[in-house]
Amino acid sequence: MKLHLIYFSPSGTTKKTVKNIAEGMSLDEVEEIDMLDKCNREKSYEFDENDLVILGMMTGTRLYGLPEEIFNTLKGNNTPFVSVVMFGNGYYGNSLILMKREMESRGFKMVAGGAFIGQSSLNPNIASGRPDAKDKAIHLDFGHQIYDKVIVNKKLSFDHSLSIDYSRDDTFTKVKCALGTHTPGVSVVMPKFMNELSIGDKCVGCKKCEKRCPVGAIDIDSMTIDRDKCIMCAACINGCPVKAIQMESKKLKKMMTKLETTRSIRREPVVHI
Ligand SMILES: Cc1cc2nc3c(=O)[nH]c(=O)nc-3n(C[C@H](O)[C@H](O)[C@H](O)COP(=O)(O)O)c2cc1C
Repeated sequence: MKLHLIYFSPSGTTKKTVKNIAEGMSLDEVEEIDMLDKCNREKSYEFDENDLVILGMMTGTRLYGLPEEIFNTLKGNNTPFVSVVMFGNGYYGNSLILMKREMESRGFKMVAGGAFIGQSSLNPNIASGRPDAKDKAIHLDFGHQIYDKVIVNKKLSFDHSLSIDYSRDDTFTKVKCALGTHTPGVSVVMPKFMNELSIGDKCVGCKKCEKRCPVGAIDIDSMTIDRDKCIMCAACINGCPVKAIQMESKKLKKMMTKLETTRSIRREPVVHI
């Protein structure tokens, strides 16, 4: 069986988690598809029953980033897949449910899934350093269990009902009305105030942010960020070696500071196998 690791991971925690799970499976044939790269989102990928796909996406209670664009590149033919959603110690909402629905409508069959925790890409004081060693042990074990289930026992059933993970007190993620099985789209419509970003004087012109930006919103020659293109995935903020890109929105900064308190209790990964 060939293993395909597909991820959209602006700040790297989803990629790390998906790779840890794969390490736990110890398969020889492994392909990686990094969906941050626009060229990869312009291709189409078709898989069969001898493939196993692990799809990792970040979440902001719903799937975040470019989920629809990514799903539309993928076609399965009764292909087993593992769902991985990453959240920043807050809530993963209906993202596992959405990923299952979208992938199964494209010919995939969910065999396992999990919601995992990564350092918040908007505030490094939330879930700092995660995934850490304790998380990694869970990732490896999850990978091992997938190996036993799918490769050794050839079991493709998934007997879990997935639930919505959401707190009504969470002021940051007011998407409760949109949650549920009849959610119209898969992408979060981001409030406009969120992507007020600036490129500060510390910028050394290395253009790493420009290269990492999945939607081509940054132009370092003119030192501008196109807010209409920006999806606020935070790849630029966390990929800048000198931390020259900053969030400017006072509203967002205030929210993120508040979340340091409400998201201070450590959550653990939730896995379904
Ligand atoms: C715009 C945005 C919204 C987010 N919303 C949430 C959220 O609602 N709940 C949560 O726990 N984490 C949230 N996060 C944090 C990310 O899900 C978390 O940092 C994840 O690990 C990032 O994955 P990556 O490192 O692969 O980019 C949000 C991040 C961004 C950029």
